Amino acid sequence: MTLQLTPQQQNILDGNEGPARKLAMEILVKVGEGFGAQRLIPIQSVHLVLHAYKSAFDAGVEAAERIADMGGRFSVPTTIDPYGMDAEDWEGAKTPKEYAVMQKRLEAAVNRLGVIPVWTCTPYYGFNMPKFGENVAWSESSAVAFANTVLGARTNRQSAIVDICCGILGLAPEVGLHLAEERRGQVLVELHLNRPLQAWEYPALGFRLGQLLGNRIGVVAGMLGTPDTEELKALCAAAAASGSVALLHIAGITPEARTLEEAFGGNHPEETITFTKKDLLETREKMNTHKGKNVDIVALGCPHYTINEIITVQKLLNGRKISDNVALWIYANSAAIALAEKMGIREELEGLGITIRAETCMIISPIAEWGFKVMMTDSGKCVHYGPMECGTEMVFGSAEECVESAVCGHVWTKEA
Ligand code: F3S
Repeated sequence: MTLQLTPQQQNILDGNEGPARKLAMEILVKVGEGFGAQRLIPIQSVHLVLHAYKSAFDAGVEAAERIADMGGRFSVPTTIDPYGMDAEDWEGAKTPKEYAVMQKRLEAAVNRLGVIPVWTCTPYYGFNMPKFGENVAWSESSAVAFANTVLGARTNRQSAIVDICCGILGLAPEVGLHLAEERRGQVLVELHLNRPLQAWEYPALGFRLGQLLGNRIGVVAGMLGTPDTEELKALCAAAAASGSVALLHIAGITPEARTLEEAFGGNHPEETITFTKKDLLETREKMNTHKGKNVDIVALGCPHYTINEIITVQKLLNGRKISDNVALWIYANSAAIALAEKMGIREELEGLGITIRAETCMIISPIAEWGFKVMMTDSGKCVHYGPMECGTEMVFGSAEECVESAVCGHVWTKEA
């Protein structure tokens, strides 16, 4: 099956719109043909993952520079994942100088391409908000799962460089989750709790679902109450990290799943998975790779904390200082930090011993220099990547448990 280009697309491939657009088209045609696409379709926005020197390496930086040198410019709104180091205070964050130099080169290159420079994995909070049914080309796994699941937009998990090509052309291969028939549920996930989930249960459920589903599309039944976007963000991020979930349907809650029938779209579930409180408690136990009570750092904000989540931390602390032997770092984007500043919350939190890390995260900024051995977090995604990327043992808990642990100076858990 051959990919059919429109005359205008062929014109780009022939080089009549400059070398950058020609290169981008050559790459998209190869990718599209590799995945069996019949055509390239217009997209409304892009979200990039060529964002941190830690994962881009020299080759990624040089590729971005080369495309910018060739005259590449984004033709659709294009946002980008978190910065590869603390954007306000990389020296205070003990970032190696040579790393910082390369991060700034990457930043300069994507700026020349015309990126919207809000470095965050939660672009859907105000910067890049696709509508229901719109096609987009996003890369960040947690954002992809959120866009497909919660917004009902349509995107595959793009990869670095391919996402840049999509941004330059405003096109993506029409395969996978761009197609209605590829978005139908495959696995029924029954929750047997008879109550709304507690805060920690969203990432725990996502973590286990990712392991069980892989890249299959699950349809969750029995989720009671009305989860807020922060809870759904935590669920999507964990499922996308421990598996490769890019779309979940949650019956009665997400837009393509007003009913179970609609979510399955005529498919019969190939498997049914059930979840009880016991399953969630067992998952939580397995997420804790550290069994002791000591903790070095509490890391919150994976995905980036919203202003609401920062306010929750303020309320949980209620004026109490954190222990001298524990660090508590909150990761957030520039908009949430600006609001926290305007509301006086940043100053208050910093006075209580907390560090706000700007526009970056614990996973994609280098933190080895700090020598942390045990990290506690409320994020299922962070639990998954922490051992590999931070070299730490992990403790998982709710935001409340994380904050209390930082105050006590040791792991504190609540009766679940
Ligand atoms: Fe975002 Fe970093 Fe977590 S990019 S989802 S905070 S690993």
